[in-house]
Amino acid sequence: MAAGHGLDWPALFATRAERMKASEIRELLKLLDQPDVISFAGGIPDPALFPAEEFGAALTAALSGDTKGAALQYSVSEGYRPLREWLVTRMASLGVTCTADNIVITSGSQQALDYLGKLFLSKGDTALVGWPTYLGALQAFNAYEPNYDRLTPLANRPAADYRETAAAKGGAVKFAYASADFANPTGETLSESARSSILDLATELDIAVIEDAAYQSLRYDGDEIPPLLALDIARTGSIEASRTIYCGSFSKTLAPGLRVGWVCAAKPVISKLVLIKQAADLHSATLNQMAIHTVASRGFEAQLAKIRDSYRARRDAILAALDRHMPDGVTWTRPNGGMYVWVTLPEGFDGAALLAESLKTERVAFVPGRAFFADGSGANTIRLSFSCASEAMIDEGIKRLGRVIGRG
Ligand SMILES: Cc1ncc(COP(=O)(O)O)c(C=O)c1O
Repeated sequence: MAAGHGLDWPALFATRAERMKASEIRELLKLLDQPDVISFAGGIPDPALFPAEEFGAALTAALSGDTKGAALQYSVSEGYRPLREWLVTRMASLGVTCTADNIVITSGSQQALDYLGKLFLSKGDTALVGWPTYLGALQAFNAYEPNYDRLTPLANRPAADYRETAAAKGGAVKFAYASADFANPTGETLSESARSSILDLATELDIAVIEDAAYQSLRYDGDEIPPLLALDIARTGSIEASRTIYCGSFSKTLAPGLRVGWVCAAKPVISKLVLIKQAADLHSATLNQMAIHTVASRGFEAQLAKIRDSYRARRDAILAALDRHMPDGVTWTRPNGGMYVWVTLPEGFDGAALLAESLKTERVAFVPGRAFFADGSGANTIRLSFSCASEAMIDEGIKRLGRVIGRG
């Protein structure tokens, strides 16, 4: 190779690297730093709502007295036992009876998605996902070179059809992935019958269900609907007999920077995830798990009440602003929780082109919807996140967005 030229790296990379592409969302996060841009782009919590003082006290306590050695030491891959015990109680409050052996702590629920891809997907297998679905899940699964087929709760095709489609592509259907509450990107919640229909299909196909519960605690109104895992246990009699793998996270409720999430599932799944974790990163940061445990056990419900009040007001503000400022022909979801409103523009609109125009002329950012579709459709959709903007900024931002769409 001639001096001055780098290696042909792509020729050395594994085939799985071909499907690893930069996320539009990560690129867009850079825009949040520009003060004159009103951003509905990043789906991140408002840092003003983090329980920073409580974490300060918890970290100081963990690093003093009897616990300081353990806080800084290697620990078990399953996760910090008191945190897993606290989660047993939390899961019980959601209708899930389990023990600490049904729980492994992960570095955010994103790590759980990667590990589950690694555990279930051989190259060419099929994962069932929504059109659209969480982009980070597609990115995590893509590394394992799967095919995707479309999950449409309440309107699924016959099981045999899914099975034959997967076989024709050289693999088997392994799991259905769904966010039951306030999904990213749509903000939508699955009704109890939609949840049942996913469990019905999964039972017929004899596959796992991955329940992404990242936003589960962020309900602003309406009645709680039992998680897929709770409905599954109600059918089968116990978590050991259930097929649902629940991925939880403290990112949207306490602090994403600490990277603490969990998986709750039947023991054979947890045991394998523990082995995967051992090989990948040994364990999640002990100090972070201790701090999360202290802050959660002292005031999880109070923290939830605080963030729900703030986000509810912003959700109300964005829906009112959309009603006021959107031109005819534009439709959007009306979420009962979470951080997102999903907007569908008239046919012919392209969300990515609209973003470029919107940034140039109106200084408003959002996420074009196409990246959330495993089949590359959805060009005329955009995702708005209301979690980080003040109510006044929301109205101004949606007014500007209405203008740029109106100019079409
Ligand atoms: C639906 C969904 N799942 C999982 C995650 C990953 O979150 P974390 O790894 O911080 O738990 C996110 C983050 O935005 C998300 O929106």
